[in-house]
Amino acid sequence: MSIRKAVIPAAGLGTRFLPATKRVPKELLPIVDVPTIQYIVKEAVDSGIEEIIFITGRGKSAIVDHFDHAPELERKLEEQGKHELLESILEVANMASMVSVRQRDPRGLGHAVLCAKDVIGDEPFVVLLGDDLVDDPTPCSRQMIDVFNKYGKSVAALMRVAEEDVPKFGIVGGHSIDERVYELDTMVEKPDVESAPSNLAIVGRYILKPEIFKYLEETKPGKGGEIQLTDAMARMMKVEGFVGYEFSGKRYDAGDKFGFLQANIAYGMKRRDIAPRLKAYMRELIKGS
Ligand code: G1P
Repeated sequence: MSIRKAVIPAAGLGTRFLPATKRVPKELLPIVDVPTIQYIVKEAVDSGIEEIIFITGRGKSAIVDHFDHAPELERKLEEQGKHELLESILEVANMASMVSVRQRDPRGLGHAVLCAKDVIGDEPFVVLLGDDLVDDPTPCSRQMIDVFNKYGKSVAALMRVAEEDVPKFGIVGGHSIDERVYELDTMVEKPDVESAPSNLAIVGRYILKPEIFKYLEETKPGKGGEIQLTDAMARMMKVEGFVGYEFSGKRYDAGDKFGFLQANIAYGMKRRDIAPRLKAYMRELIKGS
């Protein structure tokens, strides 16, 4: 069955970026001049996704507005002959069909995904977490859909992390079955280094079979008192199987201040209008330090 729908949880409070996120959703903070969530939606669309389901909360309506038409602005840009800018905002408004579901209480990632149950129905879907930007010529979600189509099992994106970072991630255990592909037998949300099954971390991309909703409904609050997606996946894995896929690409943690700056520099370096000045400026900074 082809994968047509993507869930993008975007209800988090963004406390790590206060005061910037007091009023502005963290998902709209820009990497150069594009909001982080626009990169995420583009990855989904470039991977063949037709419908985006945002899980939003209070104060997040600007996200949905960002992907809508802005008739006054469009008219102004047209009148002023600013065609490139006009095209850039028309492109955003025409990316895909979008739905937003409100998560009334922030009860964790698992609960956020469960909120999409009725809109997803009975088909497999992608989950993309907005903090994880992955840069690769083949979009990360596309790579994962290909793995899903080959193995017919739910897929978690994996990346090796340094030992000290293990407690920040969902961590898996399993055995290799193909290049970059693992059959998983363990999943633990944010374990201590001592009890972690490996240093293979789950990064924010998942292909999930619709059976996940049944497991999410039965999942009790776990780590941090939240309903954890990893806990529901771990139980589903025992019955349905689950594969992990070490994706190709560079991942940026846009939910972290340093990762956010790294992404801004890296994406700036890929921009012809900015790269030469940015390079020269960084050389200057390094010389002066
Ligand atoms: C979430 C998941 C975790 C995963 C991480 C990837 O955690 O719960 O399993 O490893 O995303 O970014 P969060 O970073 O939202 O606390």
